[in-house]
Amino acid sequence: MTLEEFQNEIMEGIPSELPTKAEYNLNLNHAPKRKEILSVDEKKLALKNALRYFPIELHNVLASEFAEEMKQFGRIYMLRYKPKHKIFARNIEEYPGKSLQAKAIMLMIQNNLDHAIAQHPDELITYGGNGAVFQNWAQYRLCMQYLSEMTEEQTLTIYSGHPMGLYPSHKDAPRVIVTNGMVIPNYSKPNDWEKFNALGVSQYGQMTAGSYMYIGPQGIVHGTTITLLNGGRKIAKNGEGLAGKLFVTAGLGGMSGAQPKAANIAGCVSVTAEVNPKATSTRHSQGWVDEVITDLDELCTRVQKAKENKEIVSIAYQGNIVDVWEKFDSENVFIDLGSDQTSLHNPWAGGYYPVGLSFDDANDMMVNKPDLFKEKVQETLRRHTAAINNHTAKGTYFFDYGNAFLLEASRAGADIMAEDGINFRYASYVQDIMGPMCFDYGFGPFRWVCASAKAEDLEVTDKIACKVLEEIMKVSPKEIQQQMADNILWIKGAQENKLVVGSQARILYADAEGRVKIAAAFNKAIKDGEIGPVVLGRDHHDVSGTDSPYRETSNIYDGSSFTADMAIQNVIGDSFRGATWVSIHNGGGVGWGEVINGGFGMLLDGSDDADRRLHSMLFWDVNNGISRRSWARNDEAVFAIKRAMESEPLLKVTLPNYADDELINSIY
Ligand SMILES: NC(=O)c1ccc[n+]([C@@H]2O[C@H](COP(=O)([O-])OP(=O)(O)OC[C@H]3O[C@@H](n4cnc5c(N)ncnc54)[C@H](O)[C@@H]3O)[C@@H](O)[C@H]2O)c1
Repeated sequence: MTLEEFQNEIMEGIPSELPTKAEYNLNLNHAPKRKEILSVDEKKLALKNALRYFPIELHNVLASEFAEEMKQFGRIYMLRYKPKHKIFARNIEEYPGKSLQAKAIMLMIQNNLDHAIAQHPDELITYGGNGAVFQNWAQYRLCMQYLSEMTEEQTLTIYSGHPMGLYPSHKDAPRVIVTNGMVIPNYSKPNDWEKFNALGVSQYGQMTAGSYMYIGPQGIVHGTTITLLNGGRKIAKNGEGLAGKLFVTAGLGGMSGAQPKAANIAGCVSVTAEVNPKATSTRHSQGWVDEVITDLDELCTRVQKAKENKEIVSIAYQGNIVDVWEKFDSENVFIDLGSDQTSLHNPWAGGYYPVGLSFDDANDMMVNKPDLFKEKVQETLRRHTAAINNHTAKGTYFFDYGNAFLLEASRAGADIMAEDGINFRYASYVQDIMGPMCFDYGFGPFRWVCASAKAEDLEVTDKIACKVLEEIMKVSPKEIQQQMADNILWIKGAQENKLVVGSQARILYADAEGRVKIAAAFNKAIKDGEIGPVVLGRDHHDVSGTDSPYRETSNIYDGSSFTADMAIQNVIGDSFRGATWVSIHNGGGVGWGEVINGGFGMLLDGSDDADRRLHSMLFWDVNNGISRRSWARNDEAVFAIKRAMESEPLLKVTLPNYADDELINSIY
């Protein structure tokens, strides 16, 4: 397809004629069939909802076709409307339109749906099993058309994938406002999602899926590397590193697929179990995991050898994680660090596979015998926990990796509670590692994408970012020296580690000062013609954007971890301080109803406007969360917000007074 044909297809939106139907592509990784949840009346409603996008003349053909999709997949994806053009992050100049900001958003949307990136491309799912960019292909087409038409005096609103329309606004307003899965709180149970999604009125945007900020597994490699390095520091007896130590985990999917690579960068032996052969072979062929083993005895022998020789090697075990924990227990293979990244935020619809069943049988049971499937999942969780408990009794350090493992294990009645019956036996990685060491100081997953799609631009930005961090580190307080050193090491090794899948993107943990200074340096480089435009963003797994009591805000101990004021304040604050687009979601990461998370994207085009916006927005985007963490009496955040106030006279944050425990205890 020529560039012109691509542009025409974008500008056409939903075609008035019926497009030809492509054959169902069996080579793609498809979403599992969703469970039957709608009554007959509700199915009728879903059909009427779907047909809203199309001229009445086509309804006859489409009604039966969509009903068939509903029957076959449990959802109406409108597969006939999947465009003919190849979807990937192109050079920003190739997108049709009147606004460079809108073109940046098109680029990021296309990256999320790239076949090399998306977990279930036909179903518009980027990662995490449910993380949707849109609910159906009509929404994709309409959204891209609006973006190609809009000016910088308009804002597009997206309701859970549905482009409601373009509205007059102004040049400093976001070009797009995204909301995903926002429901009335009492209607936020997993089955509510199934129903609203099947009706076509709501979607699970996860975090970076429905906010167009996913950059492939690289996004998480860095965070996982930091977690493993700091986890390693926690278990080190004499300051030794991770050489010869074993990390055991599960999941080679969208995000979890980053674990073996991170383990290699952190320098240990790792075993990652994965039940889905397609996921294993994708990660293996991409070089994200070194070896694949399908036999448990062979796995034990290989791991023991790797440990003895202090090899840096990542091994995928093709099979169920529970078998690995149990086998290593019976064979006395010592695990130093253990975790899990199966999609337990989505336990009943393909996020977590029961032990003792083949992958295909499990998929079949999920759809045809959902109650039995649920029983099997919970039984597996109890076995999984028991095996982990045996290992931790021998000295393994286990942490929850933000996938709702502890929560679901407790719901399954596993032996996972601490003696007090209130807390879990194990800490989450945020409680022990990321919270106090990173988020409370403002360090989080800052990222950028070179919109020229040129690898050379990415190389220049890597060098600029490294230089900026090295300058900052010279005068950084001792409290954050380790973080600065880890991040500098990461950016220095980034080119060599070949992390790019899809857009020319980079992730780099940085605090408020680092993010602002790196962004300002990029904007100057664009102005000077050294590089093309750059899109800034971040993961939602960050300091300020996300309220999630079992993950991002699990180290908030003042009782406010079940509130979501911070995430809402954040998205509103970002929107009027210069974000190019903002998003707010129910349900990413740990499950529908369990978290509110928000994100932003910002285009740097070398202009003075971009410079003004980046200073205003990035400063807020980090310090909002530090303020809240400081108010929750987190010492590290109190330290960080006081520093921020010294650097910015217009910032004045309410600081907590610490009550004396003796006084409190004398009263109760
Ligand atoms: N804390 C973090 O930084 C962080 C980062 C990324 C992801 N997560 C969480 O981790 C989870 C995984 O995310 P993802 O994007 O990789 O999801 P995903 O669904 O793409 O991948 C999960 C993988 O686990 C596999 N799996 C399920 N049950 C298994 C079992 N019993 N044994 C072996 N393999 C099994 C699945 O086949 C799937 O490939 C999510 O809950 C996500 O929210 C947390």
